[in-house]
Amino acid sequence: MNLHYKAVEITSKLTLEEKCKLCVGKNFWQLYGIDSLEIPSIWISDGPHGLRKEVVLGEDIFNSKSEKSVCFPTATAIASTFDENLAFKMGKSIGEECRSKDVAVILGPGCNIKRLPICGRNFEYFSEDPYVSGKIAAAYVKGVQTQGVGTSIKHFIANNQERYRMIVNSIIDERALREIYLSGMEIAIKEGKPWTVMSAYNRVNGDYCSENNVLINEILRNEWGYRGLVMSDWGGVNNFRKSHKSGVDLEMPGYDDDYYKEIKGSVESGELSQEIIDKAVIRIIELVLKYKKGKEIPYTFDLQEQINLAQKICEESSVLLKNEDNILPGNRKQNIAVIGIYARIPRIQGLGSSEVNPIEIDNAYDAFIENGCDVSYAPGYSLNENKYDEKLLQEAINIVKNKDIVYVFVGIPKEQEWEGLDRKNMILPINQENLIKEISKVNKNLVVIIQGGAPIEMQWSDLCKGILLTHLGGSRSGHGTVNLLLGYKNPCGKLCETYPISLNDCPSMKWYQNKNEKYKESIFVGYRYYDTAKIKVKYPFGYGLSYTTFEYSNLIMKHNEDDTVNVKITISNRGKRQGKEIIQVYVSCLNSLLYRANKELKYFKKVDLEQGQSKTIKFNLNRDAFKYYNVETHNWQVEGGYYKVQIASSCEDIQLSKLIYITGDKVKTPDFKHKSPSYYSIDKKEFNVGEEEFISIYGGKLPLIKDNIRPFTINSTIKDVESTFGGKLIASIIRKKAEETIGNDEMLSMMVNENIDDLPFRTFMMITRGKMSRKFVYGFVDFLNGRYVKGIKDMMKELKNLKE
Ligand code: BGC
Repeated sequence: MNLHYKAVEITSKLTLEEKCKLCVGKNFWQLYGIDSLEIPSIWISDGPHGLRKEVVLGEDIFNSKSEKSVCFPTATAIASTFDENLAFKMGKSIGEECRSKDVAVILGPGCNIKRLPICGRNFEYFSEDPYVSGKIAAAYVKGVQTQGVGTSIKHFIANNQERYRMIVNSIIDERALREIYLSGMEIAIKEGKPWTVMSAYNRVNGDYCSENNVLINEILRNEWGYRGLVMSDWGGVNNFRKSHKSGVDLEMPGYDDDYYKEIKGSVESGELSQEIIDKAVIRIIELVLKYKKGKEIPYTFDLQEQINLAQKICEESSVLLKNEDNILPGNRKQNIAVIGIYARIPRIQGLGSSEVNPIEIDNAYDAFIENGCDVSYAPGYSLNENKYDEKLLQEAINIVKNKDIVYVFVGIPKEQEWEGLDRKNMILPINQENLIKEISKVNKNLVVIIQGGAPIEMQWSDLCKGILLTHLGGSRSGHGTVNLLLGYKNPCGKLCETYPISLNDCPSMKWYQNKNEKYKESIFVGYRYYDTAKIKVKYPFGYGLSYTTFEYSNLIMKHNEDDTVNVKITISNRGKRQGKEIIQVYVSCLNSLLYRANKELKYFKKVDLEQGQSKTIKFNLNRDAFKYYNVETHNWQVEGGYYKVQIASSCEDIQLSKLIYITGDKVKTPDFKHKSPSYYSIDKKEFNVGEEEFISIYGGKLPLIKDNIRPFTINSTIKDVESTFGGKLIASIIRKKAEETIGNDEMLSMMVNENIDDLPFRTFMMITRGKMSRKFVYGFVDFLNGRYVKGIKDMMKELKNLKE
């Protein structure tokens, strides 16, 4: 029997209490099971660049331990391979690992758009471009799911910053929402068919994503036809009635309390319909049935194979940014200096929920030695970025003198790439920049290797001859990096996000740092902005060098009656060794009535070529390649006119192009030229969008959220309530408690200090791993709202229960 019908049948046998139990986690990672109906309690775990199965739950979220697993390069890296096959293989390997540890669903991939280069979780996301994000995510999802394990595409949607992440209201005009923020998810969900989707913490246009009927019920389910389960992000449900009505099926996590009884009460009182709960339960049971069926699929788990794959992804994702005088590849026989602590203690992943406990970590220094290199090493700088250490610097300078080549390993410090925090700037720590400067004075043969999952400013780039970006490269980044530096492998990754010259060049930075985050730049995100506004960047989207050279030729386009376009090009390797080129296809609409990006990526392909080899690449562009989202008809439409199809090696390096005429849909194209001129003159004057202009493209009054609204709710933050006596008292207790928990941990204290004011009360249960119970938090909110007796009674009762 089809799993859906089976799920319907099982649901019909459940009592209301059993149904409600299924709608909320049993604990942090498991769902409730129902033994009598052979519904096991399935396990859900974090990832997604490796499995993070927590086995020992700590006192609080910072203390838990997870089982060891292979740490793959993070999302930034996998996207930079531009290789769907590799993303599929990585997904498949992680699926195998899940099978070996009996995990039913891995929480990922993260498919949010990199809107701000400083977002603390950018390393977990693929790209600033929705097409690459969607394609790579879909491949990863398919890979995992071939193993009978589910995925959870996250965070649905517009979770583009960590500042205020649990409360921020992302205000996005409909066109940008569709073309930028939803469109990658749409590709990933329609092509990848993830078993689950995770709603984001933030609000979009006034409503929490977990209470957003338009996003979940209307777009995801009705329009895209998504049939899977939607779960909340951890602690992301504000009002479970609203969440269920908006299409969230499962609230995570749970605390083994009797919370489900509240859901049951709501159904009994008619506040929530039985039908909504039934639908949710059917999806939850269907998920469990998929898991059970998945267990029948044979799988293998070969650790060495997995580790080799992690290394391959590191090699294929690293981007050669600069190679003056062909300083690279280096040579094993050279007299080598390796400088920088990251050469021995590499940054391989970011911090937060995605952090895996790596089964293996190698490093570049050891890999040089294994290759028989004559290497002198010095750490060069202290990891305490504020500490300027003259002794370390001098030691490095003494070593690099008279060396044939100097490899300096630098990187973004780990405390800057952390879930919950955005970076404060985009520069390397001063002591690392200074090291590059001082070394360049004594040795010109300088190659800088950058570890990090997000862009940095590189004012120092003229001081070195070579730059290799190795991202957060996972368990085998050491060998991967050295293979590239010594030329055993040829770099073939390209940037999946722009590296601007300065953070100030990024338009969204102008309006960042607000709880009402107005996405005034609209569709002009990443290269869509820099390229259209003609802002010079350090390294453009799609850029990356190779040790060989490629030639593009013979562009042939056949335009069919149904507006599909068959495209054919030849790509040849003209250099002296094998290499891989990533061909990119951008489409530009000439003479549009809309404000439009100068170019949009519509296709990419990685091609492997032996020395002297040529290959013909064929692909089709369909009408979708020319579409835009029409905010008047609320539909995708094609504007009639000439389009330029450009075959490129980066978004700035167009190799071949041709014009074609596309017949438009018979619909008026909305024109905002008079009301919102800034969007149209983006290449002529500084891009500074006035409030009225944004209101005009938004289509009316902005859905702003007001601070300090009473009555307080479980969603109010410490800051919101600090104006009351009770609030002040509680805030000081919480701060004190946090300080005690943190002890001397600098990183934790930074995170807590920055975030504590903005934490909604609902997250206290999660942070304390359920010790602070839901009822306690409700009692606390009652107390703040002046229902002193009830509040205190409820809180005391909970404290008493805790003691017992
Ligand atoms: C993160 C999710 C993660 C979940 C479970 C949340 O804080 O936003 O990405 O999957 O926690 O750890």
